[in-house]
Amino acid sequence: MKNKIYYGDNLDVLRKYIKDESIDLCYIDPPFNSKRNYNQIYNNIGKEDKAQAQVFVDTWEWDDQAIKGLAEIKENYNGVFTRQSINLISGLEKVLEKGSLLAYLVSMTLRIAEIHRVLKETGSFYLHCDPTASHYLKLVLDAIFCSKGGEFQNEIAWCYATPSGARNKFPRKHDVIFYYVKSKDYCFNIQRIAHKSGLHNTGQSWKSKSGTNDHVRNLEKQGKKVEDWWTDIYPVDRLRREMLGYPTQKPEALLERIIRTSSNEGDVVLDAYCGCGTTVAVAEKLQRNWIGIDITYQSISLILKRLEDQKEKALENIEINGVPKDFESAVALANKKDDRTRKEFEKWIVLTYSKNRAIINEKKGGDKGIDGIAYIVDRNENGELENREVLFSVKSNEILTPAVIRELNGTVEREKAACGILLILYPMPNLVKDCKQYGHYQNKFIGNDYPKIQVISVEEIFEGKRLLFPTNTMDVLKSAETHTVQKDIL
Ligand SMILES: C[S@@+](CC[C@H](N)C(=O)[O-])C[C@H]1O[C@@H](n2cnc3c(N)ncnc32)[C@H](O)[C@@H]1O
Repeated sequence: MKNKIYYGDNLDVLRKYIKDESIDLCYIDPPFNSKRNYNQIYNNIGKEDKAQAQVFVDTWEWDDQAIKGLAEIKENYNGVFTRQSINLISGLEKVLEKGSLLAYLVSMTLRIAEIHRVLKETGSFYLHCDPTASHYLKLVLDAIFCSKGGEFQNEIAWCYATPSGARNKFPRKHDVIFYYVKSKDYCFNIQRIAHKSGLHNTGQSWKSKSGTNDHVRNLEKQGKKVEDWWTDIYPVDRLRREMLGYPTQKPEALLERIIRTSSNEGDVVLDAYCGCGTTVAVAEKLQRNWIGIDITYQSISLILKRLEDQKEKALENIEINGVPKDFESAVALANKKDDRTRKEFEKWIVLTYSKNRAIINEKKGGDKGIDGIAYIVDRNENGELENREVLFSVKSNEILTPAVIRELNGTVEREKAACGILLILYPMPNLVKDCKQYGHYQNKFIGNDYPKIQVISVEEIFEGKRLLFPTNTMDVLKSAETHTVQKDIL
């Protein structure tokens, strides 16, 4: 099968596109009901402040979605809800009343019931959460899995040591990972770690060969079985080489352990909340087939970049669904109303045109109107390498006047950026002509002149037009040293 990425709400994607009993292993790391919204932090080279963009929302309200979801559970929509899960949610409605926590649990119940449907009879499910709502989530999981022949296997405590400011309680230093199976017949490859060092050794799936002395000696050599509390896997903020700036990124070693334990090569792994794509990146490395779903374009873009960085031409073998492919779907994205995501059209167009290299800008105030920034390399007057900014402004209006171009030029001058690019939904030849009056920007590194202000339409993006400056500073500087930077044209 072709590996697949879906850009959209996982409930819709699961219901519409994922077949019954087609998945061997599903891991999810959904929002924890942490009552905060998460930002992506970009390393803004040359800037003191860190650019941030909201990646996803983890605040819950009793809103229309919650009302609809509760009704669907009670009506047993799609026939996926067990009597126990219907009774559980109806009971919790009385206990918790219609508020934030019930909205969160309704959302999780809808999705876990679909995940149960798509798992093969031999399938396994891991739900990553934390003590904020883990006790409630276990009830939901028991009601869905155990009443249909499945079993609770473990509550794994993933323990980590990170600094804590807690003064009035014990610092919270573990996440909870619930592990369930759909039936008694499931895949479990024992994992071992070194006895003393605590170093993890997820690389081996151990097969018993009956009780010989050799076997006992082998056992010693191979280390002890991994138990249900994991202290040997560092969180990503201690693993600089893995850090992508994504707020809740999980370490690859964690996913490696789960994937090796509960699947074999060629099996299908699903992550329905895939964030920056840790599960799919590890599944790819371990030669599993995979499906990843996420609702925000920043995640989709990070996953695409991550896979491409991991393996050349990786994207050629991936089916990407839900991402605009023609004018109509771009218009639909621009007009989409969704409280839980913001500025998805802006994110999609900036990230697509910049080949996933730009940074999404959500700062208010001075640089209002700037939706994204790409960093390009140039030389200063002394011939030293320096970063310059390319500013992106996105407009999806049907009518635009030359004032937008003038404003963009004003912002480019004020911010001392290299150039500005207006990304538009509806083609506007007049605006394109208008840009000429603003002249050129000369890039001393590449040695070429480029229009200072440009207008690029969605149509041109579908025709394949992309930002051709080398945009990732670190990549550029590294390759600059080895003289391999291509002199691309903008
Ligand atoms: C905690 S993060 C996952 C992090 C991930 N494990 C990683 O290592 O990068 C949760 C993700 O779920 C996504 N998400 C939230 N609600 C969703 C939904 N209804 N459908 C699909 N994705 C959703 C968010 O956009 C976010 O990227």
